Amino acid sequence: MASVTVSHVSKSFGDFQALSDVSIEFADGGFYALLGPSGSGKTTLLRQIAGFSFPDSGEIRIGGEAVESVPVEKRNIGMMFQNYALFPNMSVFDNVAFGLMVRDTPRSEIKARVGEALELVRLSGYDERKPHQLSGGQRQRVALARAIVFRPQVLLLDEPLSALDKALRLGMQVELKRIQREVGITTIFVTHDQEEALTLSDKVGVLKDGKLLQEGTPRELYERPRTAFAATFLGDANLFNGIADDGELALADGTRLRTLEPLARSGRMTCAVRPEKIAIVEDSAQLSSDSNVLEAELEQTIFAGNSLSYLLRHGDTSLRVFAQNRAAADLQPGQRVRLAWCSADTIPVEA
Ligand SMILES: Nc1ncnc2c1ncn2[C@@H]1O[C@H](COP(=O)(O)OP(=O)(O)OP(=O)(O)O)[C@@H](O)[C@H]1O
Ligand SMILES: [Mg+2]
Repeated sequence: MASVTVSHVSKSFGDFQALSDVSIEFADGGFYALLGPSGSGKTTLLRQIAGFSFPDSGEIRIGGEAVESVPVEKRNIGMMFQNYALFPNMSVFDNVAFGLMVRDTPRSEIKARVGEALELVRLSGYDERKPHQLSGGQRQRVALARAIVFRPQVLLLDEPLSALDKALRLGMQVELKRIQREVGITTIFVTHDQEEALTLSDKVGVLKDGKLLQEGTPRELYERPRTAFAATFLGDANLFNGIADDGELALADGTRLRTLEPLARSGRMTCAVRPEKIAIVEDSAQLSSDSNVLEAELEQTIFAGNSLSYLLRHGDTSLRVFAQNRAAADLQPGQRVRLAWCSADTIPVEA
């Protein structure tokens, strides 16, 4: 297997800069999720790594080796794109074998390798089926088998699960993670699904406007977003705008919020608080000494089965609080409630 090192890569199309000085180290055997809004440069970055397109500046190394002059087929990278197409007239076996045949692999080895790849995606015995005789999830697994059959060092997955319904998607997520672990392949995974990114990967990077905004473990990114954008793009966040005063955040109505660490800067500041960190407190005895407390008016309760979402208002600020559907309070719209959360869950972010 191999690590992938992207150093100071920039790429423009005409006068549009799609990637701007991006540096990322994709660890050997790691599972890295790339997140970012549409047009942020995710696919463009994968295309540079695969060798379909070339950076204007910067360098890409695979397994320590600069790949500038290495063509696509020599980079030993498996790929699966969102609109992967299986050959409709070819059997499952031939679809998976295709990448080996174009590489002039001996017939006997092809048979063994295809068998192995199909076993890995749990499709042994489906060799002779045609794509139209498979379910959507099975077709997707054939595409995955095709991407890994020639034992690439690196696997690039560009929203591979986006076409699937929720149940299939969850099943495929488990399979993907299992296969990635068994094969130990360096995987770079693009997804729009934040939960998928958090659950599957050991590292997450957020791209915005062609720049890497922040990266870290899923937990680091979720618990310590550095920008309001990262906080709201990966998960939900309540944003409080105020003025830093004496280390605390002073809101317009005079409420003071204590933060993770005393605020070092002065002037306008924004803090993010995750909706599940906030509790609706009915009994002040439940308040601990380091809680932030805020009065708010309930506007709406959204029932989502296993959880409830409360939409509230504090002055000009809309707030969202998540609660598990376990002895949840019966609250009426218009009711004033008291919200409380730990100062450690109040994260200063760049606006
Ligand atoms: N060949 C090209 N010529 C001109 N512009 C391009 C080309 N390829 C990509 N772009 C532009 O570069 C930007 C980044 O595109 P890219 O496909 O990398 O986005 P993305 O992050 O993958 O988005 P999505 O989530 O929608 O797939 C977009 O604004 C796109 O229009
Ligand atoms: Mg894309």
